[in-house]
Amino acid sequence: MIDESIVKNIIETANEKILEVVSDFVPLSMKRHNDDDDEKKGRKKKEPITQYIGCCPFHKDNTSSFIVTPIYGIYNCLSCGKSGNAVNFVMEYEHLTFEGAIKYLGEKFGIAIPSNDNGAPAAELPNGEYENMSSVVDFACKTFQKNLFETEEGQSIALPYFKQKREFSDETIKTFQLGYSLEKSDAFTVQALANGYKLEYLEKTGLTIVSQERGYQSDRFRGRVMFPIHSITGKVIAFGGRVMQERENVGKYLNSPESELYHKSDVVYGIYQAKDEMRSKNHCFLVEGYADVISMHQAGIKNVIASSGTSLTDGHIALIKRFTNNITLLFDGDKAGIKAAMRGIDKALSNGMNVKVLLLAPDDGSNVKVDPDSFVRSHSLDEVLEYIKTHETDFIKFKASFLVKETQRDPLRRSEAIKDIINTIALVQDKVTRDAYVRECASIMQMSEQTLFDVLRDKLIADSLKRRDEIEKSQHQTRFQEYSPAAEYEAYVDPNSPTAITATPTATAATKNTQPKNPYANEEQMLLRFFVKYVNKLIFVGTENESTLGEYVIKALASENYESVDSNFNKMIQCYIDAEDKTTVKPQTFINTTDIELSQKAAALMQDKYELSKIHNKYSEVVPEEEMVDELIFRVIGELRMKLLLNKIKDLTTKMQTLELQGANNESLNNVLEEINYWNTVKRELSKIMGGERAVSNI
Ligand code: CTP
Ligand code: MN
Repeated sequence: MIDESIVKNIIETANEKILEVVSDFVPLSMKRHNDDDDEKKGRKKKEPITQYIGCCPFHKDNTSSFIVTPIYGIYNCLSCGKSGNAVNFVMEYEHLTFEGAIKYLGEKFGIAIPSNDNGAPAAELPNGEYENMSSVVDFACKTFQKNLFETEEGQSIALPYFKQKREFSDETIKTFQLGYSLEKSDAFTVQALANGYKLEYLEKTGLTIVSQERGYQSDRFRGRVMFPIHSITGKVIAFGGRVMQERENVGKYLNSPESELYHKSDVVYGIYQAKDEMRSKNHCFLVEGYADVISMHQAGIKNVIASSGTSLTDGHIALIKRFTNNITLLFDGDKAGIKAAMRGIDKALSNGMNVKVLLLAPDDGSNVKVDPDSFVRSHSLDEVLEYIKTHETDFIKFKASFLVKETQRDPLRRSEAIKDIINTIALVQDKVTRDAYVRECASIMQMSEQTLFDVLRDKLIADSLKRRDEIEKSQHQTRFQEYSPAAEYEAYVDPNSPTAITATPTATAATKNTQPKNPYANEEQMLLRFFVKYVNKLIFVGTENESTLGEYVIKALASENYESVDSNFNKMIQCYIDAEDKTTVKPQTFINTTDIELSQKAAALMQDKYELSKIHNKYSEVVPEEEMVDELIFRVIGELRMKLLLNKIKDLTTKMQTLELQGANNESLNNVLEEINYWNTVKRELSKIMGGERAVSNI
């Protein structure tokens, strides 16, 4: 276990710098505030809280629903509802356990976590499945690197392969953590087991192949030079291994299988080494292979990634788009390269990227295969840059000229080609650009613009009909899903009341996953929101009830002996009760807690979406929530009390009915009736205080 005070320090630091934490994964920009409303009303302008927005990485989001609020150290997605602090973010994003996230953040902010010195191997630390796999793979990476530099086998054949054959420098080998797997069939497995790593994880990561029947364990990678595949944070998640001597019936490359750690369709090779340059250049090159990435990087072009010989997926593009929207597909000029480029174009365009294409051809017009790797090694950097500048074409020129050449003397295939290219152009979202492409295409293919525009129009209409269908289908589904909690909520809180608390339908979402059937979930949610957000705000100033909101809530709950069935509610309250100095408690106290579930809940409660932003006071003015905290918390506590009362009365009524059925004597019936009457009096008093009939009429 990591020392509690170090954990606390890491949480606080990371939350304070949440902008840095999130920015490593999601591009964010400062949110502009609209204070028109306030100005119109002549209200004095309040300094708005600085927030940053971006596209939510947890659902498919094109509308920038994701908000980071640095002052509180939290993020919220207004659309999918994901919320939390910096630790929650890393856990969610990288699929880490709490410990894993703490380790990652400690490393990021240079807060040393003393290592466990009792000799326990890393694999035995109390980690989750994911981290066990991760640590096995990490061990493999280090072992392969050692094999390369420190074994006889590595030094004599693998190192020369990298250095002489591929011309990789020592620095490059280190940057990409290249390594070597020994020839011996179980060399790595034996070593890993001896170091305390479990066979289960060796198998799950694909490093060891186990055959129960034949009773053997052998290494997947044997006698291969190893290319580790990194996640965006630089963790090794898989490997590609290449034979040094190509032989028949032996695959040139062998890769780690899909695993919980490694989802091929969500990973591009080289992203960790390329991402900074991709961001700063606002551009990237997509190549095919490991060697292409490494050679270009070594040559000084570092914004390079590879799809590793597979077609681009939406997942790949989503990853790339976090850093840049501009991509150049850089492929061999052979048939396979062209085909790959064609597919890549559509994928990238339909995801809203700007696409260029650059095909490589040998200088001498021969048929020798030229890939980026061999190209950069046979040219100087200046020559390469010059070649890129002069040969990079927009996708339309590329596709149109290719199709023209292909279908020159074949009218049938030519009309197919026209449809094909128009389908591609239709993927471009901006109309002006789209129209420009049609004109360019017409000129290259020597066709009338009008004809092409007609084909495009038909395609766009067909697409939009299809989209409308899909939207209708999905809207129907959402409406259906949201109906019941919203209705339940609205039935309880009357929107016509002068002090009605009007919340969005999804305000109940955060309570959905808590314990089954908490009858007071809505009231608790409201109460906690004020509690966390305004815990040290003075309320009822100048009256005999003057106190902080936190104290008021504690007193009110104590007077009812209230305990929730939701343990998080109780813990949140306890968090305040436990504070030695109550005057220092603030929203961050809850957000920075080491109870990660609690911090997530606190962050969710701070979400603007739940804000009762437009509240009508007695005079039907719209007043910001903050100015009405006294009245609102009074109201919320009142609603809770009322519901408790009503449930009590209901229980007593049921009790009486049961007694009647059982033919109980009058005395015991009278006792219950008296009790009911008593609580009814209290109820009337309470509803008077709370402003009339509504609370009663709503039951
Ligand atoms: N690849 C793969 N698995 C294979 C074959 C290829 O993952 N069985 C990926 C590798 O990332 C490889 C890329 O596809 O780098 C391109 O493969 P290929 O064109 O066969 O080779 P090159 O990249 O030219 O490989 P090298 O230069 O090492 O010969
Ligand atoms: Mn190659």
